[in-house]
Amino acid sequence: MRIVVTGKKGQVVQALLERGPAFGADIVPLGRPELDLASPERVGALLAAARADLIVSAAAYTAVDKAESEPDLAYAVNAEGPRALAEAASSLGVPLIHISTDYVFDGSKDSPWTETTSLRRSASMARRSSRAKTPCLLLPPTLSF
Ligand SMILES: NC(=O)c1ccc[n+]([C@@H]2O[C@H](COP(=O)([O-])OP(=O)(O)OC[C@H]3O[C@@H](n4cnc5c(N)ncnc54)[C@H](OP(=O)(O)O)[C@@H]3O)[C@@H](O)[C@H]2O)c1
Repeated sequence: MRIVVTGKKGQVVQALLERGPAFGADIVPLGRPELDLASPERVGALLAAARADLIVSAAAYTAVDKAESEPDLAYAVNAEGPRALAEAASSLGVPLIHISTDYVFDGSKDSPWTETTSLRRSASMARRSSRAKTPCLLLPPTLSF
């Protein structure tokens, strides 16, 4: 199985590169400079060329504190970029797994979190990750974690 993962040096990408082969998966990182989620115009063409059986959306703006001073960039990378990925995956008919963060939740719940749990809106990072999650959930065949 050919699994295209967004990002190159990130922790999740590196873990998949390390462990994927043991499961017979061919892990193909797709990240900067070819794929920049802040400029997602080329996402569709790049994904089509990548011939993925499965796409893992693991690239993200993860500098939580810095996101407060770079809200536009955080929004572009964590919302518009994943939206473009989800739209491209949907039109190609390729399943997409979007890796999100529990930071989108406020931590106040005593029971398990589900796809329908309300999302935290108080912090820029959470707000932007939340918005990434929404378009990904709306476009089948996408799973968001
Ligand atoms: N690591 C964990 O234990 C963990 C746990 C729960 C959830 N998550 C979630 O999993 C996702 C990935 O986390 P991580 O720990 O792997 O993050 P990370 O180590 O900070 O890596 C971020 C990745 O995103 C890429 N990236 C950032 N901006 C980009 C852009 N404009 N265009 C394309 N790629 C860009 C980086 O690219 P470069 O390769 O160019 O640096 C890097 O590969 C995040 O949503 C995070 O919240 C991670």
